[in-house]
Amino acid sequence: MPSDSPSQPLLRLGGVDKSFGAHQVLHGIDLELRAGEVVVLLGASGSGKSTLIRCVNRLETIDAGEILLDGVPMPLEGRELARMRAQVGMVFQSFNLFGHKTVLENITLAPVRVKGVPKERAIERAHELLARVGLADKAAAYPAQLSGGQQQRVAIARALAMEPRVLLFDEPTSALDPEMTNEVLDVMSELAREGMTMLVVTHEMGFARRVADRVVFIDAGRIVESAPPQDFFAGPRTDRAREFLSKILTH
Ligand SMILES: Nc1ncnc2c1ncn2[C@@H]1O[C@H](COP(=O)(O)OP(=O)(O)OP(=O)(O)O)[C@@H](O)[C@H]1O
Ligand SMILES: [Mg+2]
Repeated sequence: MPSDSPSQPLLRLGGVDKSFGAHQVLHGIDLELRAGEVVVLLGASGSGKSTLIRCVNRLETIDAGEILLDGVPMPLEGRELARMRAQVGMVFQSFNLFGHKTVLENITLAPVRVKGVPKERAIERAHELLARVGLADKAAAYPAQLSGGQQQRVAIARALAMEPRVLLFDEPTSALDPEMTNEVLDVMSELAREGMTMLVVTHEMGFARRVADRVVFIDAGRIVESAPPQDFFAGPRTDRAREFLSKILTH
């Protein structure tokens, strides 16, 4: 079923509902990403951005709807899920590196354990990835010895080591100061230029304007706008998006 057909999205969410107890957080989410597309997901705090991202690789269960990667439903559990998850990289606000492992070990662990990549090959690839994120000299360091921006770039290298088809980012720079933020955004922009398919939750509007192919705005668990950034920023169609932008742009 996987194909390069331009008509088939690489990632597709259809009719996704999600509740926590009695609280419905996502309502009929329809979202498609084509190969190489960069989508920035915007919305107020509590609107469901993280939940949506976490549903994609089933860190959260869903109550209704479907999630397809290259036309194939994400499995519910087990080895099949692990195999599909390996194709969907994730980068969080809090880096989530293993503190007792070196940078190199952080990057090689999953390829060796989950994908069975030979250790020597995984190490070679980790060095390439570290060079790509500007940290060629940090292979032997421990996370605590790195700045936040450096740790986040290691987290990106770690995600890339699995050779994912899609990368999901949940506020990757919101724990960072401006200089470190830019280091991380530069790496993300470069990935976008190289054709990586990315779904990004961020409040970095400059990044959204420059790098996104499309901005999707979510309000109270519903996607209410989806437009190219120049259109969205020039004239959001809903009051909620206008209100959101007026708050965020005056910070
Ligand atoms: N594990 C959970 N249990 C119960 N409620 C949850 C859980 N996770 C999220 N929620 C609720 O779901 C709603 C959406 O949360 P979510 O974290 O997806 O929002 P968000 O858009 O990412 O917000 P923020 O911008 O603050 O990160 C919120 O009302 C939140 O309280
Ligand atoms: Mg969130």
